[in-house]
Amino acid sequence: MRENSKRRVGVVGLGTMGAGIVEVFARGEFQVVGVEVDEAARERGAEHLRKSTDKAVSRGKLSTEDAAALHERITLTTDFAALSEVDLVVEAVPERIDIKHDLFRRLDEICEPRTILATNTSSLPVTQIAETTGRPLQVVGMHFFNPAPVMKLIEVVHTPVTSSQTVDLVRELALGLGKTPVVCGDKPGFIVNRLLFGYLNQAVAMVDDGEATGPEIDAAMRSAGFPMGPIMLLDVIGLDTSVQILDTIYTRDGQLERYAAAKSLRSLAAEGHLGRKTGRGFYEHGSPVVPAELDEDRAARIAATLLAPHRADARQMIDSGYATAEDIDTAMTLGCGYPKGILTA
Ligand SMILES: NC(=O)c1ccc[n+]([C@@H]2O[C@H](COP(=O)([O-])OP(=O)(O)OC[C@H]3O[C@@H](n4cnc5c(N)ncnc54)[C@H](O)[C@@H]3O)[C@@H](O)[C@H]2O)c1
Repeated sequence: MRENSKRRVGVVGLGTMGAGIVEVFARGEFQVVGVEVDEAARERGAEHLRKSTDKAVSRGKLSTEDAAALHERITLTTDFAALSEVDLVVEAVPERIDIKHDLFRRLDEICEPRTILATNTSSLPVTQIAETTGRPLQVVGMHFFNPAPVMKLIEVVHTPVTSSQTVDLVRELALGLGKTPVVCGDKPGFIVNRLLFGYLNQAVAMVDDGEATGPEIDAAMRSAGFPMGPIMLLDVIGLDTSVQILDTIYTRDGQLERYAAAKSLRSLAAEGHLGRKTGRGFYEHGSPVVPAELDEDRAARIAATLLAPHRADARQMIDSGYATAEDIDTAMTLGCGYPKGILTA
């Protein structure tokens, strides 16, 4: 294996995720080629990158010399041919299967046969994307979290045909970037969103059924050691994004009841009450939130009601060979800030 400074990677799409991923690789001393559709988008990507490294310098997290060296390792272009000799391409173009299909066909033609092609998709089937190429053994999901330079977790997603050599190389590369990779199969939501959204949705269903109020559920989960309650977390993520994630898992995965978006979640989102970003979701965000008071027994009962199925989902992942217990706990700790991981929480 060549040392990082001699390895070349490509990143396609320099939006929110792509620009961050370019920075991650350049910080890891890779030579990086970033490709965009047109000059205006290329310039936006360059600006995003510059702002991010300027911020790191002003916070003392990166020296001026290191920032200059980092930018030296990066080439941003609109010329896809610049990807012809890279070892790995990570794509971060919009979340649409037609765009991803076109791109992977194109990458398959441009890149050397040895090149690994990775997608940063959050919800599309990696298997379907791989099928558009003549190298499905070398296609993998590499799901970074936002913001990519900060978040340590990467979900490495293998399809039924991804070779173990490809998975091992991508894992090793993620470790070399100072990230923590976890490996899983190709089901919608991968590990983090699949586990998290079943739990979040159940919390809303409990409110809808009158079993507890949102503030009571949040207080119960905080007393169980979670950094934030599920109802508040939905407001922070955004109710529109949450409905979209649930709908994707529900439709792609055999309409499992657990992922059928709860009534009030869907109606609040439809009314434009999207959570913190619009000032109102399950909570009013302008005014201070008054925590609910509830006795220990009731808090423990609420936490148990939510945690038992949450853990069962995780155990099902393990039993089906989808992911290991260790990777699941790592994913939930790093991806959601869980205190100890879901299986040991
Ligand atoms: N935003 C997140 O929090 C997040 C987190 C994890 C994964 N993702 C996934 O990452 C991917 C990108 O998301 P984003 O939020 O960065 O999107 P974005 O809209 O911010 O950026 C997409 C970029 O791709 C460019 N683009 C479009 N078509 C292209 C093409 N054919 N070739 C090259 N560039 C092209 C656009 O000009 C744009 O700059 C999606 O698959 C998304 O699901 C997003």
